[in-house]
Amino acid sequence: MRRIAVTVNGERRQAEVEPRQLLVYFLREQLGLTGTTVGCDTSSCGSCTVLLGGESVKSCTVLAVQADGAEVTTIEGLAQDGELHPVQRAFHEQHALQCGYCTPGMVMATVGLLAEQPSPSEADIRLALEGNICRCTGYHNIVKAVQAAAEA
Ligand code: FES
Ligand code: FES
Repeated sequence: MRRIAVTVNGERRQAEVEPRQLLVYFLREQLGLTGTTVGCDTSSCGSCTVLLGGESVKSCTVLAVQADGAEVTTIEGLAQDGELHPVQRAFHEQHALQCGYCTPGMVMATVGLLAEQPSPSEADIRLALEGNICRCTGYHNIVKAVQAAAEA
C-alpha cells in the first residue's frame, strides 16, 4: 500500500491505496465521489473524465498514485454555492443529455476544452470530444451546449 495525498475539489484527501489502484476507483470507492462514472474501464468511452492539474484526463487511465500531490476536480466540484457551473447550466438548457451516464465526462471534457480554447469552432468541439462516447447519441445537443457555454 502507498499513502497518497490528493487535493480533490479543493479539499486535501489522504488515503492508503494499492499501487495498481486506478484513479477512478480511488474517487468512487475510497472517496465516495460517484459522479464520475465508468463506462468501459478500457480508456474508450470518456465517461470517467476528470481534471488532473487542470487538464482533462480519463481517470481509468491514471493510477491513483500518479495523482499524489496533484489537484483533481470531479463533477461534484463544479457547482459553487449551489449555483451550477456555466457548462453544467448550458448542458441543462440545451437538453444535452438523455440517460445522463456520459454527462459528467462530457461536462469535464468541456471544462478542460474551454480552459484551453475559450472560443472553439464546431470542428474543434467535435475533435475535443471525440474520446467521449454518448450511447444515447445525443451529440448534436452536446455540441450546442458547448457552444452556449463558450458564449456564456
Ligand atoms: S471508463 Fe474510462 S474511458 Fe471509459
Ligand atoms: S446521455 Fe446517455 S450515454 Fe450520453
